[in-house]
Amino acid sequence: MNKMPLHPRPEILDIEPYTPGVSKLPGANRVIKLSSNEGAFGPPPGALRAIAAAAPGLHRYPDGSATRLRQAIGDRFGLDGERIVCGAGSDDLIFLLCHIYGGAGTELIMTAHGFSIYQIAGRLAGCRVVKVPERNLTADVDAILAWVSPATRMVFIANPNNPTGTFLPHTEILRLRAALPPDVLLVLDAAYAEYMDRPDYDAGASLVDAADNVVMTRTFSKMFGMGGLRLGWAYAPPSVVDLLHRTRGPFNVSLAAHDAGIAALAEPGWVEKSLAHNTAERARVTAALAAAGIRVPPSEGNFVLADFGTPDVAEAADRHLRGRGLIVRRVGGYGLPHCLRITIGLAEENDLLIDALRDFMKEAVLF
Ligand SMILES: Cc1ncc(COP(=O)(O)O)c(C=O)c1O
Repeated sequence: MNKMPLHPRPEILDIEPYTPGVSKLPGANRVIKLSSNEGAFGPPPGALRAIAAAAPGLHRYPDGSATRLRQAIGDRFGLDGERIVCGAGSDDLIFLLCHIYGGAGTELIMTAHGFSIYQIAGRLAGCRVVKVPERNLTADVDAILAWVSPATRMVFIANPNNPTGTFLPHTEILRLRAALPPDVLLVLDAAYAEYMDRPDYDAGASLVDAADNVVMTRTFSKMFGMGGLRLGWAYAPPSVVDLLHRTRGPFNVSLAAHDAGIAALAEPGWVEKSLAHNTAERARVTAALAAAGIRVPPSEGNFVLADFGTPDVAEAADRHLRGRGLIVRRVGGYGLPHCLRITIGLAEENDLLIDALRDFMKEAVLF
């Protein structure tokens, strides 16, 4: 038989697949998963009830325009629902933005340790992906601006960033926006915005309102604990909203995700409880790891980056943690092979993590 070879675009073959956090350890009785920055408390109870209530109607297609959900998001965050576009996770919207504004001959700017999906989505869209050096594991506005060229179409900043946990204050984002050419889209990925507790931070909505070239993306996968359901949203200027609607899957948000999203937003006290827990536990984990001799840069997310100094020690720490049923995230793919990213879990999960790393560091000094 005559075999016809397939012809993927050559640049697609250079894409490294996304490495998700490991979720299983063969042979372990109890596994504590601190590898994917999923909210410590799981899904809000009201969201679970909403999913159960939606189940009998799952043979119906969802409302493709997500009107009720967009309205609920708009009401919750004080935004115009007409400028919100929902997606199957914020990844969905990131891929669409890259397809819309990317393409052969264009450049996408991200930072050295920026969220890895930007590189995958950018390359898929045919962009050259430029990784700009950071300063102290933090996005550097001057360096970003220095790399902008006539081919630049998009700048992606996760604020705060995953996996470093660092953030840019609003003044720095304003400075970046003001100096970017008007034909460059600034994408502010605020996946962890709900965990931010600082007066100098702004997730980006005010900038979207003030300019035609800024988009903010958000997710229900972190504080709202629904990563498995896939629900995210973008707040964007009308011209970008129009193009996202033209290009998205017509039913890109499932029926269950609509109802669960609305219920999650209405869950009494959820954000307050989750924020208080994360702020306190993150400080506790950071201090305990530091006391054990592990460097932990200040983090603003629901995770910390533990710096073990060398890739060998980080790998040994990871093996030690796995031996105790604790899964964290290796971040060599982010250019940080000497670090592990650790999600903030429940207090008792964090206790086990702290104990395990204390023990590891006691043994490590004997190396
Ligand atoms: C910075 C950042 N952006 C976006 C995402 C994707 O989230 P979603 O589940 O909404 O696709 C993540 C998930 O880890 C993230 O860390």
